[in-house]
Amino acid sequence: MRLLLILLIPTLLLAGSGNVDPEILKRGYRVYQENCSICHTEKATLWEFLKARLNVLSGRRPENIDAPPMNLVSARIKEFYPNELEFVEFVKDYITHPSKKKGVCQPAAYAFFGTMPPIGQGMDEEDKEAVALWLYYRYSDIWHDVFKRVKELQKRVQSKK
Ligand code: HEC
Repeated sequence: MRLLLILLIPTLLLAGSGNVDPEILKRGYRVYQENCSICHTEKATLWEFLKARLNVLSGRRPENIDAPPMNLVSARIKEFYPNELEFVEFVKDYITHPSKKKGVCQPAAYAFFGTMPPIGQGMDEEDKEAVALWLYYRYSDIWHDVFKRVKELQKRVQSKK
C-alpha cells in the first residue's frame, strides 16, 4: 500500500502541473523578458485593472501601459481556449500573424494600443512554444468574476448615457 502511494504521489503532482518541464517555463520567462516585457507588464493588480477600465469607459487611453498586462491576456485567452494545447497553438499563431479578426482581446485594447506587431516572425519555434506555455502556467488568477462584474457595470454606465 505504502509503495503504491509512493508511486502515485509524483504522478498526481505531475498531473496537476500538466506535465510541463520547469526548464521550459524558465525559458518561456526569459523569452517573455526579452521579447514581450517592453509592451506587456507581467502583472496588473485588481486595482490597476479597475483604474485602466475606468479610463477606457470614459474614452481615455489607460495610463503608463502599451499593451494589456500578461495576467489579463492569459485569463482572457483561457476563457476562449481553456485547454493547454489550443491555448498554446493560439498564442504561437497570434504572435506570428496577429490580426484583430482572430484576436480575443477586448475591443478597447485594439482601439487604444493598435494590433501587436508580428514579433513571432523572427523567433524560433521552441521559443514561441516556451513563451506560450509560460503564459498558460504562470497565472492562476480567476478573473471570470471580475470580467463579468465589470461588464455589468459597463452596461449600467452606458444605459445612463
Ligand atoms: C510592441 C508592443 C508589443 C510587443 C513587443 C508584444 N506585444 Fe503582445 N500585444 C500588444 C498589443 C498592443 C496587444 C493588444 C492588441 C492585440 O491583441 O493585437 C497585444 C496582445 C497580445 C495577445 C492577445 C491576443 C488577442 O487575443 O488579441 C497575446 C497572446 C500577446 N500579445 C502575446 C505576446 C507575446 C507572447 C509577446 C512576446 C513574444 C508579445 N505579445 C509582444 C503589443 C505587444
